Amino acid sequence: MRQLLFFSNNKNKIIEIKKIFNKFNLELLSLNDLNINEEPEENGQTFEENAKIKSDYGFNKTRIPCFADDSGICIESLNWKPGVLSKRFLNNFKSNEACFENVIKSTKKNCEKNAYFKTSISLTVKESQNIIFNGKIDGTISEQAKGRFGFGYDPIFIPKSYNKTLAELRTKEKNEISHRSIAVTKLINFLIN
Ligand code: IMP
Repeated sequence: MRQLLFFSNNKNKIIEIKKIFNKFNLELLSLNDLNINEEPEENGQTFEENAKIKSDYGFNKTRIPCFADDSGICIESLNWKPGVLSKRFLNNFKSNEACFENVIKSTKKNCEKNAYFKTSISLTVKESQNIIFNGKIDGTISEQAKGRFGFGYDPIFIPKSYNKTLAELRTKEKNEISHRSIAVTKLINFLIN
């Protein structure tokens, strides 16, 4: 069975991705399985750069083919930011609700309501040889935060041709359309072909 390292410490992501990989006879290892505690600084300007920093680091440490992901939201009324700083931007507010209010206000003020989520996955198979798989979901910022599922910015993001926020969709439904699942599907198609 082929081994593959997923460079992540996020338990939910690891569980979700391990489930998908079991079906394909690939043994997925996580940082925990290999007792790796250090992580490189994610100082890239793009999702692609940050994903590559992590997958190169994992490969160089273990010599096992390694992939890593990086994702976030880009909002038109914030000049398509926060992007790679999505987590920090949210954490800088006293609550998620305060952040949502701020985003909704700037969306209304600027009459610009477009947004998208993007995930980049980088797979490093040899020294300095990596492949990128991108997933993107287009949508708009809602007029108010709604829904109790999901995480992060889900309560204020309405996917294109839907009339509900991502947080109003069940996990299974979100996974059918999400930026992350698009990128993961591309990675798996590459690995099994
Ligand atoms: P990560 O790179 O996947 O850890 O994502 C970075 C940050 O982007 C998260 O902490 C969230 O704030 C935001 N984000 C990424 N994906 C999603 C999503 O599917 N829904 C809501 N927020 C997300």
